[in-house]
Amino acid sequence: MEQWTIKKLLEWITDYLIKSNVDSPRLSAELLLCHVTGLQRIELYTNFATVLPKPRLDALHALVKRAVSHEPVQYLVGKTEFYSMQFKVTPDCLIPRPETELLVERAIDFLRCRKGEQLVCDLCTGSGCIAAAIAKNQPDVKITATDLCDKALSVAQENIAHHNLTEKITLLCGDLFAPIIEGMDATKFDLIVSNPPYISTAEYETLDANVRDYEPADALLAGTDGLDIYRRIASQVSEHLKPDGALILEIGYAQGPAVKELLEQIGAFANITVEKDFSNNDRIVTARKTA
Ligand SMILES: C[S@@+](CC[C@H](N)C(=O)[O-])C[C@H]1O[C@@H](n2cnc3c(N)ncnc32)[C@H](O)[C@@H]1O
Repeated sequence: MEQWTIKKLLEWITDYLIKSNVDSPRLSAELLLCHVTGLQRIELYTNFATVLPKPRLDALHALVKRAVSHEPVQYLVGKTEFYSMQFKVTPDCLIPRPETELLVERAIDFLRCRKGEQLVCDLCTGSGCIAAAIAKNQPDVKITATDLCDKALSVAQENIAHHNLTEKITLLCGDLFAPIIEGMDATKFDLIVSNPPYISTAEYETLDANVRDYEPADALLAGTDGLDIYRRIASQVSEHLKPDGALILEIGYAQGPAVKELLEQIGAFANITVEKDFSNNDRIVTARKTA
């Protein structure tokens, strides 16, 4: 009978994922193997000769079948890495993207230059990855994070508890600033961050199958031009920011000029800058409220 060692499985799965056009085939194969064996990635390589028992082999086959149908590996294994932290993910929340780490970097840069406790708001928090990464790396912050989707917030709650951040982060369910206005008596923030939905209706149709068919549409779509949520944030943000506070938004790859113009029209911001990511796409807009 054929012996399915970890080495042989890793090679076979990688090859199958390559042929099926799955992103990052070697990494995906490793993650699936780690999930069924309980090993760390490095341990796969020190246990190359281990033979998988039949029940684990069956579980692995079922997962590989789903992966070649372009179901995201992060949903299959129920977790992902963001800002060197582990986050639970389910199909109720967007899978955190590496590009979003730039927003976290800029938020931390801003907070480091200020003294005393800083009040931060994370709109559209999803898995809670942005709020948790900021809170973990910045000692004196209190973060309020909102999302429309209560199921996404349940995932965020678990992530925040897992990283021991429940004292620093409050989660509220509702539309953008609405739950803050109801619950916190017009608190003003030092920093407001958001990675909101920003995909246009036309672009949505062109997304890869693993995104369009599996990630929640409400986390992605933002009207015909993809700017609906930015318009709504722009119209409300000024009243929630302290003078000299900052707004940092993630944006789509070509939305820099449009989002900059939206914020300029408010007339409450100075130094509105658009920053590109490591792929040279527009990614972050930063604006400082005039004192
Ligand atoms: C692009 S995902 C970002 C999730 C997370 N911040 C991240 O960076 O991975 C957008 C999130 O916004 C939420 N959302 C959509 N419309 C919203 C609204 N009007 N108010 C609050 N949250 C909203 C969705 O439920 C989703 O979790």
